[in-house]
Amino acid sequence: MADFLEIRNLSKNYGIVQALKNVSFSIVKGEVHALLGENGAGKSTLIKIISGEEAPGSGSIVIDGKEVRDFSPAHAMASGIAMVHQELAVFENMTVGDNIFPYANFLSPGGFINQRRADREAKSLIDMFGINISPRQKMDSLTMGQQQIVEILRCVSAGKEIILLDEPTSGLNQEEVKKLMEIIRRLKNQGITVVYISHRIDEIMDIGDRVTVLRDGNYVGTYVNNSSLTEMELISRMVGRELSGTLYSARTEDGIATEEVVFEVKNFSKKNSVTDISFALHKGEVLGFFGLEGSGTNTVSRMIFGLESADTGELYLKGQKLKKISPDALVSSGVMYLNNNRKNAGLLLNSPALDNLAMPLLKELSDGFFVNRGKMSSHAEKYINEFNIVIPSVFQIPRNLSGGNQQKLMFSICMGKNPEIIIINEPTRGIDVGAKGEIHRFILELIKKGLSVIVFSSEMPELISLCDRVMVMAKNRIFGEVLKGDISQEKIMAGAAGSAAGGA
Ligand SMILES: Nc1ncnc2c1ncn2[C@@H]1O[C@H](COP(=O)(O)OP(=O)(O)OP(=O)(O)O)[C@@H](O)[C@H]1O
Ligand SMILES: [Mg+2]
Repeated sequence: MADFLEIRNLSKNYGIVQALKNVSFSIVKGEVHALLGENGAGKSTLIKIISGEEAPGSGSIVIDGKEVRDFSPAHAMASGIAMVHQELAVFENMTVGDNIFPYANFLSPGGFINQRRADREAKSLIDMFGINISPRQKMDSLTMGQQQIVEILRCVSAGKEIILLDEPTSGLNQEEVKKLMEIIRRLKNQGITVVYISHRIDEIMDIGDRVTVLRDGNYVGTYVNNSSLTEMELISRMVGRELSGTLYSARTEDGIATEEVVFEVKNFSKKNSVTDISFALHKGEVLGFFGLEGSGTNTVSRMIFGLESADTGELYLKGQKLKKISPDALVSSGVMYLNNNRKNAGLLLNSPALDNLAMPLLKELSDGFFVNRGKMSSHAEKYINEFNIVIPSVFQIPRNLSGGNQQKLMFSICMGKNPEIIIINEPTRGIDVGAKGEIHRFILELIKKGLSVIVFSSEMPELISLCDRVMVMAKNRIFGEVLKGDISQEKIMAGAAGSAAGGA
């Protein structure tokens, strides 16, 4: 097959950061070409150049034999290129249909938009995903996963030749991921070329025809995904060294959880929402929550931090009933919450990383009335080192960091408060496989220091490697709990599917 998209000696600098260094490879028409690399490797930068959002510093791109001279989104769009961004970019106060066809050409002869036809086309795309939303629904009424799907559908509706997907599945649950894989296969059958970025290697092995690995802005190689290619091989190419053993293993360290209950929820219920949620978190424990989409886990994560109210129920911190369940009250009692959506999670995208990291500690880092910039910097640098955040300086703004490095920054901000209890929603969303282990180890260090952690995750291997206990939710209730030693994919899944086998 002929090369369809050639990337020739592409380089791109952002100030002193070399995001891409002389990268060359080519993409064949109609293939699914996966891009793999650690956080900050240059994946997003590469496809932003293909989509015309960024111009290369040097080098060129050749599409179908023609060198691209005009790097602009309009030109890319005219060449049939569409892209789904790493961060959600939906228009929240518009309808689903308007988001799917934002540049829609459903004009009737009189120049009016043919709304019926637009809705019908949107509906048929939605139906491919088998999700229960209507084209006339407002975007802000959808879950994050659903919003992500709408963004993917917009791309599918616009991309005639090449579709670029930057971590499309990071906000999706297993069912939705399966649907997306089907859609990608269908696109491929129609001859559409797909460039696919993901940190989930199993997805890449499933859907990719070939895989290109980037490391530190350098091109490492392009590999055909056949039976002789293994996950470990890809990962070691990605990190530049051999990795021993398995990536995730069940947590082997002995639990250090004590009998002391530090956080207890009693009978949280809400009409048309969750029913009878009760559980207790012990000091030194990592307690997991797992449930399929619609099981209620997301609601529970919000309720226990006061982001959503319950009709009935009580929350006790170290045996003391909390009078008003609000984020403020919880934070001042030493509870922190790490959101699953970076955009609305308190990251000041346009303020230096330094300010972001110091934000929760302004009092501690001040001398009297004055903020001590020196103390602030050393505080910020401590976390940047601890989490290996790839950042040119503490003055860089988060908007310019790679997705995974933004996530690590959020984690650091949360830690800066010295919390006693942390509630984490999807701790390693967008984090590369190597750094995932680092974050897991970090969480296990925290409990050694006496902290207690509640983790909501859609990735079972993550729960298996972290938790002392996993609460399994189905149909808006806690269906059962699985204890460490007994925690396995099968046990958790059986519970989540609502079968008696997984119940406690
Ligand atoms: N606008 C920008 N200004 C400054 N630096 C930038 C900008 N965009 C990207 N970078 C830097 O370029 C490097 C490559 O970033 P890129 O977003 O391409 O990484 P990535 O491979 O997509 O990583 P991730 O898996 O974390 O999303 C990173 O060090 C990043 O901080
Ligand atoms: Mg990226």
